[in-house]
Amino acid sequence: MSFDLKIYLENKQKLVNAALERYLPPIQDPTRNLVDSMRYSLFAGGKRLRPILCLGAVETLGEDPELCLPVACALEMIHTYSLIHDDLPAMDDDDLRRGKPTNHKIFGEAMAILAGDGLLTEAFYLLSKFGLNDLIRPTKLIEIIKIISNAAGWRGMVGGQTIDMESEGKQIEPSLLELMHSCKTGALITASVESGAVAAGADEEKREALVNYGRHFGMAFQITDDLLDVTGNSEEMGKPAGSDEARNKSTFPALYGLEKTREMATFHVNKALEALEQFDDRATPLRELVKYLLKRRK
Ligand code: IPE
Ligand code: IPE
Ligand code: MG
Ligand code: MG
Ligand code: MG
Repeated sequence: MSFDLKIYLENKQKLVNAALERYLPPIQDPTRNLVDSMRYSLFAGGKRLRPILCLGAVETLGEDPELCLPVACALEMIHTYSLIHDDLPAMDDDDLRRGKPTNHKIFGEAMAILAGDGLLTEAFYLLSKFGLNDLIRPTKLIEIIKIISNAAGWRGMVGGQTIDMESEGKQIEPSLLELMHSCKTGALITASVESGAVAAGADEEKREALVNYGRHFGMAFQITDDLLDVTGNSEEMGKPAGSDEARNKSTFPALYGLEKTREMATFHVNKALEALEQFDDRATPLRELVKYLLKRRK
């Protein structure tokens, strides 16, 4: 049977969106503006890649992905918070995200900071409130919380964002650029795959293989994000093209040029595919997902 990635993505996006709606409905309390602001960015229309990677890892191991929805949604909340803060004037100062004005443009900077704070903490509330089920028992849940918090914090995403900000306007070493990408984007992507692997009870060998896939996926993803900033257009991407150059960011195209950068993206895609060699057809979605990175327009 042939596999249609577009349909697969649409189905998984629907599943994730419906679960997010259940977990974070609008409220009428005095803090409703805050929840409206959190929901504004959460439902502005992201690709839901991190949740889908988590669910895809569970599927690869032959378990029911729906039991991992709280973990998948927690990952999306953390990712959305990172985008809200990434767009703030103090950081990348961007006006467009997911095809809409950025959070601070609509709600103001203070509320955008608070919405990010709210989404980050809500992710861990969600994990502890809804995470336990037949697939995810307490010790696994603690392990998943460790993986995700480690990846989101100073050793991972926040650390990577720090390197990103401190590298503006500088020529940095290739090794630092690689570290920046693996932290700011790779860490949460790897954690998405790994948390799915842990939920589904992967043995050490399978878990390591999936982590390896995640690392290369993360690198390929941020390299193609840098490429799109140069070659893509705002309308398709739903965020401004040319933002990196305007802010003098350290990126792969800035350091290596377009051609070499494309080669590097292909290298990581192939490495990610190699990492999946031991798995059967149930890994088809993960395989197709990483191949799509080389073609993506958004
Ligand atoms: C954008 O992530 C930020 C990066 C880490 C490069 P995505 O491209 O996954 O953004 P959404 O979730 O689809 O909006
Ligand atoms: C952002 O990288 C990574 C995180 C939000 C953690 P970018 O700054 O390149 O992301 P975009 O291009 O604004 O989506
Ligand atoms: Mg940034
Ligand atoms: Mg940015
Ligand atoms: Mg970018």
